[in-house]
This record gives sequence, C-alpha cells and structure tokens, in this order.
Amino acid sequence: MPSEAASGIAFREPPIFERGAVGRRGHSTSALDVPEVDVAAALGGLLREQAAGFPEVSEPEVFRHYVRLSQWNYCIDSQFYPLGSCTMKYNPKVNEWAARLPGFAALHPLTPPHLAQGALELIVRLQELLAEIVGMDGVSLQPAAGAQGELTGLMMIRAYHGAQGRSPRKVFIPDSAHGTNPASCALNGFEAVAFPAGPRGVVELETLARAVQAAGDDVAGLMLTNPNTLGLFEPAIADLVQLIHDKGGLVYGDGANMNAVLGQARPGDVGVDVMQFNLHKTFTTPHGGGGPGSGPVAFKQRLAAFQPGPVLRREGEAFVVDTARPQSIGRVRSFHGNFGMMVRAYSYIRELGPEGLRAVSELAVLNANYLKRKLEQILPLGVEAEVLHEAVFTDRELEQSTGIKTLDLAKRLIDYGFHPPTVYFPLVVRGALMVEPTETETKQTLDAFVDAIAAIKAEAEADPALVKGAPHLTRLGRLDEARAARKPRLRWTPEPASD
Ligand SMILES: Cc1ncc(COP(=O)(O)O)c(C=O)c1O
Repeated sequence: MPSEAASGIAFREPPIFERGAVGRRGHSTSALDVPEVDVAAALGGLLREQAAGFPEVSEPEVFRHYVRLSQWNYCIDSQFYPLGSCTMKYNPKVNEWAARLPGFAALHPLTPPHLAQGALELIVRLQELLAEIVGMDGVSLQPAAGAQGELTGLMMIRAYHGAQGRSPRKVFIPDSAHGTNPASCALNGFEAVAFPAGPRGVVELETLARAVQAAGDDVAGLMLTNPNTLGLFEPAIADLVQLIHDKGGLVYGDGANMNAVLGQARPGDVGVDVMQFNLHKTFTTPHGGGGPGSGPVAFKQRLAAFQPGPVLRREGEAFVVDTARPQSIGRVRSFHGNFGMMVRAYSYIRELGPEGLRAVSELAVLNANYLKRKLEQILPLGVEAEVLHEAVFTDRELEQSTGIKTLDLAKRLIDYGFHPPTVYFPLVVRGALMVEPTETETKQTLDAFVDAIAAIKAEAEADPALVKGAPHLTRLGRLDEARAARKPRLRWTPEPASD
C-alpha cells in the first residue's frame, strides 16, 4: 500500500469522538422489569447539566475503528522487532491463557486474603522463584515498571543508610546507563555521579576507584547494568562491588537485561545488594505499547526490613499479607502490583524450568552473535567486543558518504517489514543502531533482516532520496517527530488546535 505521501491521497481516520450520530447505540437491553429510578432525584446536585458528549456509535463503527488502528500498529505477533535494550521477544500464548483464567483475571483486588489463597500462593511462589534465579534473599513484586523498581531499590538503599544514622548522597552511574538510572537517583534525593565507561565499553575499576576516592565518605552506592546497554558483560563486577562495599555503599543492579544471563550467572552471587527485573521483557509480558508492566525488586537480607509493604509471605500452610513492617519504605503501588504480569511470569518460568531458562539465554546470545557477525560486514560495530544479547552498530561512515541519517535508515527498514532497532542509544556511540534479536527468532528472519540492511545501504548509495523519504509503504508517511514532541495533542478537542 503506498503511503499518504506517496499516493497523494489523504488518509484520515477520525477519532471516535468525531464518529456516530445522536441516539446511535452499540447495544440493546431488554425492557426494565423493576421500577425506574429517578436519577435526578437520586443524584441531586451531582447530576450533569449537559450530556457528557461521549461518542454515540454502533457496534460495527466502534469495532472497525479500533481494529483498523490496531492493524496500523507494528507488533511482535506479526513481525521481527529488534529494538535493542527492550527484549521484544515473542510471548508464548499459553501465558496469556493462564493470565485470563477467570479465577485470576476476575479476582477482585480487595478479596480478603483467606478467600484469595490461590492468588497469594502464586505471588509468594513467584517471589521465591525470582529470588532463586538471581541469588537474592527476597523479592517484592509491587513495582509496576523497571524504572519504578529502580526507584524502589534506591529508596531501600536510602532507608538502609538512614537506619545506620548515615545519609550519603552520591550514587555512581556509568555513562552507558539507561536514562532511568540517573532519573531514579534524582527522584530519590541522591546525586547521580556519572563516570565514563572505558574504551572497551565496560566499567574499569581504576576509573570508578578515582571517582569514589574523590567522594570521601559520601558514597551511597553504585548503579550498574549487567550485561550493560552495549550488550557487554561487566567483567570487573566483583571488584567494583567490593570497592563500593568497602566505602559503606550498596550496589544496585539494573536487571533489565537479565534475558542474556538467565541460568548462567546470578547477580546476588557477585555481591549485588538490590536489583529490579523487567518481567515485561524477560518473562514474556507483551510490552511496547505503554501497557502494564512489572519491575519487581530482589534484595539481600540486609535490605529485607525496608522492602515495600505489605509483605506477602508463607505462614505455615497459609499465605498471609503482613502489614507489621515498621521499617518498610511503604507501599509503592496499589494492591500487590500488576497481578496479570505475575501470572504470565509464573506460568513461563514453570513451563521452561531451569533447563529452559538456561536455553533462553544461550539462544538469545547465539542469535545476537550470529547477527553481529553478519551485520558487521555491512555496518561497523560501535564498540569492538564480544557481545551477549545485543550488538550496537554505527552508520557514521554511511552518513558521511551518502548523507543518510540513522533515522532515515531506520524508517526505510519499516518498508522492508522490520521494526527499526533502537537508534541514537546508547549515547556513547555516534549514529548508534542497537539490535537485540532475542531467542525467539529464526535464522531465516535474522538473515532477511541483514539482507534488508544491505539493500538499504545500496539504496543509500544509489538513490539517497528514496531512503530519506521513507517509509513509503506504510499507511502514513514520515511523521513530523519534532512537532509531535514539542506540540503534542494529547486530548481531543472539538476544534482542531490551530498552530
Ligand atoms: C537497562 C534498562 N534499565 C531500565 C529500563 C526501564 O524499564 P521500564 O521501561 O520498564 O521502566 C530499561 C528500559 O528499556 C532498560 O533498558
């Protein structure tokens, strides 16, 4: 299908508020067989003076509108989605089935614990499994995203220092880290101290030692992503942890990239004190559309007293909600967190077992290295190193010779049927394209992706305008991203905003 730009036809999908007609209905109900309530009398002053202005639409109108919108979207269920650092893997449908079982999906969050023992058991069992997987002593499933897990973990570190009558402020973060790391520090009243990763893309002990030395007694901790955002394992991690512990600090492990080390290495075994999982990456919750996520924190015993409350735990044969936690940082999420994600993760872990989880990381690493070997013949690597789950390439040379920018290449990939990789991140690589294939892709898909990049490179050299104008085969052509970011229209208004 040619894009709007290519065909000259203006496609317009009016929002639901601009559809329908007064009195049109999408449902039919039987006649009342009970006395009608006088709504005005019942609501008194709370009654609206004017109708709320909701769309009045038929069932086909509303259904088709949303189906059409969903078909314009790119999704992992239809195509390869190699978005680096996001672990966009295919989510087995059996986990969706489990999450939709009425006993789980329809359970009211305020159901008293003695009537919700099955759900509480699942939560406690998942806490235990996750703790085992990363070598920690406990897990709280409350945080609803990776970033919220970071925030929670740092709150626990702050509470730990506070309980010892200390209030150090500096948290060291390498410059290759995800932006949420410094943001979580700042939100927590810590000072994020950035230091450079070395030329090999990993943290060097001497660099951190110098930074820590300069901080004196003000060392609250270190935040380290392992494997890091270049897809590299941090080889000095045990020494880095020791250095921070010697200064009285604690180590926060960003576990967003756990997919690469599942069943191979446990952060707890090298001394990491607290970390988050991104269940929506590693443990198969569909993500990418801003939907519910889950970022549990795992911690060592010395931080257990500070975990979010209430705490769910076993008591004999029963599963209880423990609210007597005087040192807890308190609740970070309503109820017990995003329960649907927990059911999916539990079902996935039980389905795969230890051998299956190990195979996940082995295949994820194999796929990334296969892709790296083939793709580095077309685009140079951002950093020459052995990678784990993802590889970062740079198209700087291509830009210099053809004028094609990273974004152009990314947009043209859409015409070839692939979601673009992460671009311009990590910031330490100019013209970065960060590719994470995950374990769920076949060799054929990876080969087709590499062929597409090779074809786009040839196009860039022969016909740069073709690449610069991409995408051409999508419903809408190139969108004005700067305008969308600077002047977002997030709410429908009757009159289109004039700008
Ligand atoms: C390394 C890393 N840390 C933290 C996060 C934040 O996770 P979330 O998007 O669930 O808040 C991400 C997300 O991409 C990440 O890649």
